[in-house]
Amino acid sequence: MSTFTMRRPDDWHVHLRDGPMLAGVVNFTARQFARAIVMPNLNPPVTTVAAAEAYRSRILAALEPGLSFTPLMTCYLTDGIDAGEIERGFAAGVFAACKLYPAHATTNSSHGVTDIKNIRAALETMQRIGMPLLLHGEVTDKHVDIFDREAVFIDTILAKLVRDFPALKIVLEHITTEEAANFVADGPATLAATITPHHLDYNRNAMFEGGIRPHFYCLPVAKREHHRLALRKAATSGSPKFFLGTDSAPHAVSAKETACGCAGVFCAPHAIESYAKVFDEEKAMDRFEAFASENGPRFYGLPLNEERITLEREGQSVPARVSAGGTEIVPFHAGATLGWRVAAS
Ligand code: NCD
Ligand code: ZN
Repeated sequence: MSTFTMRRPDDWHVHLRDGPMLAGVVNFTARQFARAIVMPNLNPPVTTVAAAEAYRSRILAALEPGLSFTPLMTCYLTDGIDAGEIERGFAAGVFAACKLYPAHATTNSSHGVTDIKNIRAALETMQRIGMPLLLHGEVTDKHVDIFDREAVFIDTILAKLVRDFPALKIVLEHITTEEAANFVADGPATLAATITPHHLDYNRNAMFEGGIRPHFYCLPVAKREHHRLALRKAATSGSPKFFLGTDSAPHAVSAKETACGCAGVFCAPHAIESYAKVFDEEKAMDRFEAFASENGPRFYGLPLNEERITLEREGQSVPARVSAGGTEIVPFHAGATLGWRVAAS
């Protein structure tokens, strides 16, 4: 197979940032994906319909002419979030989903939720109106080993959430463990998960190979090899519960290569080729379109894209750095050669 044509994919989890960085990164996403679920962890976070509309306008204003791209906005849940605001935003077609960051779990999550009890009204509303809840699935207890925080979240928080809100659509975002893959696969149809290209590609050793390698650090942090293999199995299984979400999270080189570097992998520039590499290696190209272009919209209750893209089996080298609005960022696969590329349309 030298070319592969599929429905244009969507990215169900991306950080587009704001200001000059937004203008520098958004087109990498918009060139490949028809739609993207845009994370609300700005500073201050996106917690109102007005803030989401204003952010959406800034995203659209930063698009290259000729690109068709729909940003799907999300509401950042806080302890004091107004359920009425969420319902209004969803009804108006502004909010596509709500994002739950446990407070202090990751970048810009200090306004996140300290206890699920505090957002009961919001969750009841979301369940009633069919609005998905997107989870950063890690506990924040410093006494829990960082490599166990996702599995402990599933046991102590997610299992109860699924029981208490049986009709609530839940997406466990950027899963990194075998426990998460199994929990989602065995769970009800209301439960799904996104998987990033980097968690499919490397295990935790990559962060320490010959020295500390900050560009492989993200949250949830990469785990052992058996977890990576479980993620590959889940992504390529054909199950409708798993779909594409890059978690592309750009940070300036200077914010990564420092004594306390930020979490996040900037995988947007070659996201679809990175996933193609994995599906190709797993001999599962026949299941690639479902993962990238069908399972996500079906879960969200949105139409499938009618446009097609073609991938060609042709080497392309990934630059060591990308300049985004004057900010230097190291992309995923920097300096490597990828075996696929998107054909000019
Ligand atoms: C994300 C970011 O930088 O905003 N970082 C990351 O490592 N994935 C936040 C997040 O999704 O956890
Ligand atoms: Zn993220």
